[in-house]
Amino acid sequence: MNRIFFRFFVLVMLSITAATFVIYFAFARLFGDPLDDIARRQAAAQIFLLEQYVDQAPTDEWLTRLNNVREVSDVRYDLMSLEQAREALGAGQRAELERGAIVLDAAGKSFYRRVDLDGERYIGSQDEVLHAQDLPIDIGQALKMEVLRYVIVAIAILVPIALWSRSHWKALQSLSRMADEFGAGKLSVRAHLQPSDAVYPLAERINHMAGRIEELMEAQRSLLHSVSHELRTPIARLEFGLELLDAKANNPDLSKRIAAMEGDLAELNNLVKELLDMSKLDSARSLQCASLDLDALLRDCCATLPPSTQQVACELAPQLGAVEGDARLLARAVGNLLRNAQKYAQGNIVLSARRLPDTGGVEIAVDDDGPGIPAEERERIFDPFYRLDRSRDRATGGFGLGLSIAQKAVALHGGSLRVETSALGGARFVIGLPA
Ligand SMILES: Nc1ncnc2c1ncn2[C@@H]1O[C@H](COP(=O)(O)OP(=O)(O)O)[C@@H](O)[C@H]1O
Ligand SMILES: [Mg+2]
Repeated sequence: MNRIFFRFFVLVMLSITAATFVIYFAFARLFGDPLDDIARRQAAAQIFLLEQYVDQAPTDEWLTRLNNVREVSDVRYDLMSLEQAREALGAGQRAELERGAIVLDAAGKSFYRRVDLDGERYIGSQDEVLHAQDLPIDIGQALKMEVLRYVIVAIAILVPIALWSRSHWKALQSLSRMADEFGAGKLSVRAHLQPSDAVYPLAERINHMAGRIEELMEAQRSLLHSVSHELRTPIARLEFGLELLDAKANNPDLSKRIAAMEGDLAELNNLVKELLDMSKLDSARSLQCASLDLDALLRDCCATLPPSTQQVACELAPQLGAVEGDARLLARAVGNLLRNAQKYAQGNIVLSARRLPDTGGVEIAVDDDGPGIPAEERERIFDPFYRLDRSRDRATGGFGLGLSIAQKAVALHGGSLRVETSALGGARFVIGLPA
């Protein structure tokens, strides 16, 4: 049963209970206590006997007839003084008793009535009260019947509402599943609802919105891709031109300038290459999955690092086993993390990997003893072109695309990339891959 319906169910039950009390008090105020009515109906036989048999006796035989009734009845009939009876009753009932009416005590299963008002039946009878006890009154049963009535009415209301809300619930769930998938990057998902569904118009709008977002993302991706692609030709021409110029000029001064320009061109070339790589990573189409030997892949990443003064340790757990993935992309992600570590570490870098015992997934971590990443920057460093202030100087190189590329590559595998503080004192980047 769904949550919304459950809340609704509780609400309906509470309001039916409240309505029951309101009905009871309103009826009690307007027409007298309904419980009293029920009790009077249940004691009708005894009241009838008293009024139609005992009271109908000739004046001096009233007591004899009462005794006859006493002999055959399960009900106890006692006589008590008017004074005692008045003490046993509340103010309202006392007035009724004085008038000579039958005063019921439903809870006590009894009633009181004066023998008579003017002392005709026996001497002093005007000061006596007949108290009938053990009457066959059972308010509990009447209450149970009332409760049953309300429960049946409540169920009769709730069943159709449950069926009605179920269809809504299903439609809403399919919408929220679609929103989840869309949020996770699968931009082609759409909600498929029947036109008869109540939330169909909403689903239509959401689908329309999703379509627009997909178009915009696609346009942006293809713009990035085209611009990067188009830049390659003029860059290549410039490189070629500079080489020619250098050869022709044959001038050491100019050669120095030309070498600097070639350096700038190489940087530009790298940027274009990274941008192209990144634009390819925006769709799962670029994934070429195969079963990979993780141990070999990670050792390869360490081995292909550019030489540096730092120690790079490879601490891989035994029997890492195989993972399903794109070797080129995973190596790219790990390589980017390792090269970052090389830029910032003072002396030590550790690449480690292990299987997570609970999920069966893999955790690959790169630790270094560099300056680390301040907590408030940990979200943003994965944004394209985002670099920390201290690394703005070109000395460290890079465009701020490395982490963004690594994150996209890992996300394509259904995994995640996060950064923490390393036990070595610097940054610890952790790649989590699902089983
Ligand atoms: N291991 C690290 N230690 C300290 N800072 C790091 C580390 N790795 C990345 N960073 C910070 O995150 C920024 C973004 O990294 P990245 O996307 O690889 O860009 P790039 O390396 O091109 O600067 C870097 O500029 C740097 O400031
Ligand atoms: Mg980098």
